[in-house]
Amino acid sequence: MSSLLKLVVFLGLTFATSFARSNDPMFAYNGFSNTNLELDGTASITENGLLELTNGKVMSKGHAFFPDPLRFRRSPNSTVQSFSASFVFGIISVYNNLSSHGLAMFVAPGKDFSAATPVGYLGLFNAQNDGNGTNRVFALELDTYQNSEFQDIDNNHVGINVNGLHSVESHAAGFYRDRNGTSESFEDLTLCSQQAMQVWVDYDSESARISSTVAPLNTARPKRPTVSASYNLSAVLADVAYVGFSSSTGKINSRHYVLGWSFAMNGPAPAIDTSSLPKLPLARSKPHRPVLEVVLPVATAALLVAAGAVVFLSVRRHIRYAELREDWEVEFGPHRFSYKDLFRATEGFGDKNLLGTGGFGRVYRGVLPRSKLKVAVKKVSHDSKQGMKEFIAEVVSIGRLQHRNLVKLLGYCRRKGELLLVYDYVPNGSLDRYLYGRNGNQQAMAAAPATLDWSRRFRIIKGIACGLLYLHEEWEKVVIHRDIKASNVLLDDDMNARLGDFGLARLYDHGVDPQTTHVVGTIGYLAPELACTGKATPLTDVFAFGVFVLEVACGRRPIKHSEAQQNRLVLFDWVFQHLQNGSLTDAIDGRLKGDYDVDEACLALKLGLLCSHPFASARPSMRQVMQYLHGDVSPPELAPTHQSFEALALMQEDGFDPYIMSYPSSTATASIGTVSATMSQGR
Ligand SMILES: Nc1ncnc2c1ncn2[C@@H]1O[C@H](COP(=O)(O)OP(=O)(O)OP(=O)(O)O)[C@@H](O)[C@H]1O
Ligand SMILES: *[C@@H]1O[C@H](CO)[C@@H](O)[C@H](O)[C@H]1NC(C)=O
Ligand SMILES: *[C@@H]1O[C@H](CO)[C@@H](O)[C@H](O)[C@H]1NC(C)=O
Ligand SMILES: *[C@@H]1O[C@H](CO)[C@@H](O)[C@H](O)[C@H]1NC(C)=O
Ligand SMILES: *[C@@H]1O[C@H](CO)[C@@H](O)[C@H](O)[C@H]1NC(C)=O
Ligand SMILES: *[C@@H]1O[C@H](CO)[C@@H](O)[C@H](O)[C@H]1NC(C)=O
Ligand SMILES: *[C@@H]1O[C@H](CO)[C@@H](O)[C@H](O)[C@H]1NC(C)=O
Ligand SMILES: *[C@@H]1O[C@H](CO)[C@@H](O)[C@H](O)[C@H]1NC(C)=O
Repeated sequence: MSSLLKLVVFLGLTFATSFARSNDPMFAYNGFSNTNLELDGTASITENGLLELTNGKVMSKGHAFFPDPLRFRRSPNSTVQSFSASFVFGIISVYNNLSSHGLAMFVAPGKDFSAATPVGYLGLFNAQNDGNGTNRVFALELDTYQNSEFQDIDNNHVGINVNGLHSVESHAAGFYRDRNGTSESFEDLTLCSQQAMQVWVDYDSESARISSTVAPLNTARPKRPTVSASYNLSAVLADVAYVGFSSSTGKINSRHYVLGWSFAMNGPAPAIDTSSLPKLPLARSKPHRPVLEVVLPVATAALLVAAGAVVFLSVRRHIRYAELREDWEVEFGPHRFSYKDLFRATEGFGDKNLLGTGGFGRVYRGVLPRSKLKVAVKKVSHDSKQGMKEFIAEVVSIGRLQHRNLVKLLGYCRRKGELLLVYDYVPNGSLDRYLYGRNGNQQAMAAAPATLDWSRRFRIIKGIACGLLYLHEEWEKVVIHRDIKASNVLLDDDMNARLGDFGLARLYDHGVDPQTTHVVGTIGYLAPELACTGKATPLTDVFAFGVFVLEVACGRRPIKHSEAQQNRLVLFDWVFQHLQNGSLTDAIDGRLKGDYDVDEACLALKLGLLCSHPFASARPSMRQVMQYLHGDVSPPELAPTHQSFEALALMQEDGFDPYIMSYPSSTATASIGTVSATMSQGR
């Protein structure tokens, strides 16, 4: 595909007179190879001609400018002329529906954005100049993150901005589909859907109206704009100004692209030739859910076909139990289960035996045919051979772990594109079910069990601390769990807590790209330094443990999306506020109806805060945690004025949120993602 420069026209802009329409500036780019755009920050032109504004680096910003200044007024102090622009963009994030922060096309008096902040400021403004009339900036933002400080309506909107980030007018991303000449039926678009979309921006000088329309690529321009506002830009723009793009990332490694761009003064922007645009790259690491969504229907279809071929029973039988075995596996033989045994044990992986679905795959209950041992079999779809040998070696080594607070990993089985892990069956299910009641996944379970009383909860906290101490310090080598959370804590028949699922996160840790480290875990439990260093350590486990303790004591999820205010509630912040307000006991789960040991509960909350402290150096080790829990040693006093918490409060005031991100829905509790942690330069 040709990715040559397709700069159609650029007519001189000097001395535009009121008659010389043809002198009005106008340009069109269909791809950006060999073009003269000026770039800064993370912005670059890719080999195939995409304008890459941000490249997946966290906390970064990038800009691109049309190199020459454009005359927005015919003469000094006259009104700003009409202008029209169109561009095609695409956003690629490692998460589905979760991206940060967005991009904007802007008109600004200069090209120096070195003082602008990334993150929510989109690389356009900073905390000092946001909203100041001296900025003289107009921007159309495509914003994928809800910043409550800017009154953002949601995490997926188009906004008209003047001099600041608080939009003059904004609307959820989408378009009004034209039907029989009239505009009707609004259709939603997801900005970070990894699909290219086209945007039109127009300013009409006559009516002083700004309007903008977003639509999927190759859709005719909808008649009714997505968002419009009355705003006289004559009071805003400088006589001579630059047009360009700005984009920024926060803690989520997102990449923002522009595929094509056109602009005209006093006339419609030239059409972009969408057939000759460069192609967006595919997402580097896909979230697991879409994989499941794609694989499952395909697998279902495949099964239907197989059912049609009942005649070829023997063939089917052969295929059904097919496994993948390689030479290096010989030494792991005793830990290898045959697929046939597992298939029989789980009665063919039927829905009847489905225990639940997690971020890695489905879990089935089963009884091994010979030993009659009850097992839980986890089916993980995984087709990368890379790192498989190391992983299996680790599975086998982990299989030797023996502790009453750990779920025993019995062995594994491998098939094409699939890995099966066999665990001891833990009869009473996962802890989150007791904390939050039944959730849709637990089809095999009966109604929600009664809430746990305090003494059980405290015993669970102690148990998990004990299991974790064993992993960190008491076994022959240091094992990092990497995915501690309520849904990975299972309860056995005398309600003893067992930590499950260790090692699995590791499977996805053997990064696709050896150059970058990948962090795997669950949003809400990821220590902030993981996003910077990408290195899981015992202290990142301690962080997740702290979040877990808060969760158990408060009976709340670590990050809650409250429908009422469309705001996220970070549990840590909430408990910390209670601590500051001197109302710590109000944070304890209300379902306990006041029936709990006040000292133990306050200890748990303070310990939870201490462990999930954003600064790793302030967190205790698991050995210290055990000492605090057993009352051998009292934990350090957590005064709200504690130096490190003060620093935290300052950072938050400054718009830096050490907790990764807003959570778009409260249902996706098992969302696993990778954060490519190249580096974070802070601010
Ligand atoms: N060893 C086990 N014994 C009994 N039930 C289990 C066992 N392991 C898992 N389960 C059940 O299967 C469900 C899904 O487990 P899984 O660990 O895959 O999901 P998760 O913990 O919610 O998410 P993630 O995969 O992100 O850790 C759990 O909620 C639990 O009820
Ligand atoms: C433009 O307006 C400014 C202030 O409003 C004034 O100082 C200046 O003289 C004006 N220039 C012209 C050319 O009218
Ligand atoms: C993503 O967001 C869109 C709308 O914003 C919604 O319709 C869709 O269900 C979401 N997908 C997931 C996986 O959450
Ligand atoms: C706006 O910016 C100007 C110049 O930078 C500064 O002098 C002025 O104090 C700022 N106004 C406000 C309200 O911050
Ligand atoms: C719109 O078009 C559809 C078919 O294209 C037609 O069935 C329908 O009657 C039309 N509606 C109006 C209001 O014209
Ligand atoms: C916009 O403002 C300018 C001066 O600031 C004025 O001359 C012009 O008439 C205004 N336009 C509209 C449509 O109000
Ligand atoms: C589960 O826990 C309850 C107590 O809540 C206990 O009575 C029961 O025996 C446990 N085991 C099973 C399999 O339900
Ligand atoms: C703490 O006190 C402040 C001010 O009184 C109040 O706004 C806030 O909601 C309180 N926080 C909690 C978690 O109760």
